[in-house]
Amino acid sequence: MGDEGRYGVVDVGTTGVKLAVYDESLSRIFYERVSVGFEQTASGYVEQDAAKLAEVVRGFARKAKSLGARKLGICTYRASVLAWSREGLPLTNVITWIDGRGREVVERLPSYVKMLRRASGALAQILSPDSPAVLMRWLLDHVAGLRERVERGDAYLWTVDSYLLYSLTGKYYSDATNAALTGLIHPKDLREIDIVFDLLKLPRRTPEVVDNVVDAGSFEGLDVSVLIADQQAASVAVGALREGAIESVHGTGSFVEQCTGKLVMAGGGLVPLIILSLDGQKVYGVEGFVRTTGSIVEWLRGAGFFSSYEEMEGLASKAGRGVLVVPAFGGFRCPRAPDVRGLICGLSLGAGRGEVVAGVAWGVALHVAYLVWEIGRRVGAARDPLWASGGYSQSDFFLQVLADATGFRVARPADVESSCRGVARLLALADGRLSKRDLEEPPPPQRLFEPRTTRGERELMLEKYRELLEVLRKWGRNPFLSGSF
Ligand SMILES: Nc1ncnc2c1ncn2[C@@H]1O[C@H](COP(=O)(O)OP(=O)(O)OP(=O)(O)O)[C@@H](O)[C@H]1O
Ligand SMILES: [Mg+2]
Repeated sequence: MGDEGRYGVVDVGTTGVKLAVYDESLSRIFYERVSVGFEQTASGYVEQDAAKLAEVVRGFARKAKSLGARKLGICTYRASVLAWSREGLPLTNVITWIDGRGREVVERLPSYVKMLRRASGALAQILSPDSPAVLMRWLLDHVAGLRERVERGDAYLWTVDSYLLYSLTGKYYSDATNAALTGLIHPKDLREIDIVFDLLKLPRRTPEVVDNVVDAGSFEGLDVSVLIADQQAASVAVGALREGAIESVHGTGSFVEQCTGKLVMAGGGLVPLIILSLDGQKVYGVEGFVRTTGSIVEWLRGAGFFSSYEEMEGLASKAGRGVLVVPAFGGFRCPRAPDVRGLICGLSLGAGRGEVVAGVAWGVALHVAYLVWEIGRRVGAARDPLWASGGYSQSDFFLQVLADATGFRVARPADVESSCRGVARLLALADGRLSKRDLEEPPPPQRLFEPRTTRGERELMLEKYRELLEVLRKWGRNPFLSGSF
């Protein structure tokens, strides 16, 4: 078989940028990962060097082509913004979704805007500190001359997916999955949401909002045909595209997405999503997330708790129970508790490294169980199994306790790089090798983890965890945690 049908996928994750190349039967024939790192310009600010990121993406596109790819698809981390010039040169760093500065904008909003915000759940969500629309306003307020340049059409201000495509092909596009998360484009009809532009005084220089499979131009002879947000690509990978299907990805953070059929504004810190838009037809979903999960694993490694994932797995599987690490290192959005911070509870003199490592798995699993419960009660129960992928899903210990905490059978696909695989499936659709119906078919699970708990045990665990969150929420805004004593 020749290499004429190969697909190149670039997955721009928050911690790692990955290149995967697949043959026409979607077997992965090449994989590489690089880390771009963060620029910490001030306390609480988490930026990324946009020029460096674009350089890595261009290098990966060239490599994909040299390995025989004819089509390229890109998925990106989401809700992160920057400004760039008409020549495609960045004018700012990428302000990432983990960054905390949106709070400065929200606190300074005029009182009538704050009132509107209190009156409308949807506006409260869009005008929240981690909203891309709010981060765009921060850039307009802090980068001299930016507003004028954007208004003149001499500069662009939008999300990282749009910038990366612009730097590759010169097209100013944003795909529906990314655009609908900005707070500026309505997920229902992809129209601009006038009131948000007015309240935040943002220039109306929006990109063309496009489907996930699209002719997005070409880079050095390589056609860019798929653009999608990374977590949504993971839903495509495991075929979670029918109402009630549920999947989770555990990378830097953990994300749970349930397909809802129609658009639902679930509230409670859950995010309404477009999971996929093909030929103008949209698949909707709702998402809950924890910002820090795999990053806590890395934090423990940095602190010397273990030196390899094998060692971590060994320690966790031999550990006794009773330690819980609440994974709130970056606060929680669901439940709304931005000021809560991480907590290790249940320590005794008998607790060792293993108990703490196991406690992270239990903490993440319980919080994911909380998200699944919250989604279920707001939009309807999900259908078994709960798919789990991403780097941290390689831990059998974690997936077993995820099954124990949620009561779902947890299914791990053979390929845990699900964002990449979702894009590859869409490239195969673009090529006519897969149909839309094929996309809804889940892959055979590589392993299924059966829950070992009774319903009563799970209900009690969740109830106790909710009580703990309530206590932590009350405790969140205190001088000790803010360091202001
Ligand atoms: N074998 C392993 N066992 C357990 N955890 C692992 C293993 N390999 C990687 N991880 C964890 O997975 C995380 C990385 O996952 P992944 O590569 O899916 O993230 P990413 O795609 O870079 O980030 P993003 O969340 O932005 O998509 C790391 O935090 C790491 O701690
Ligand atoms: Mg990822």
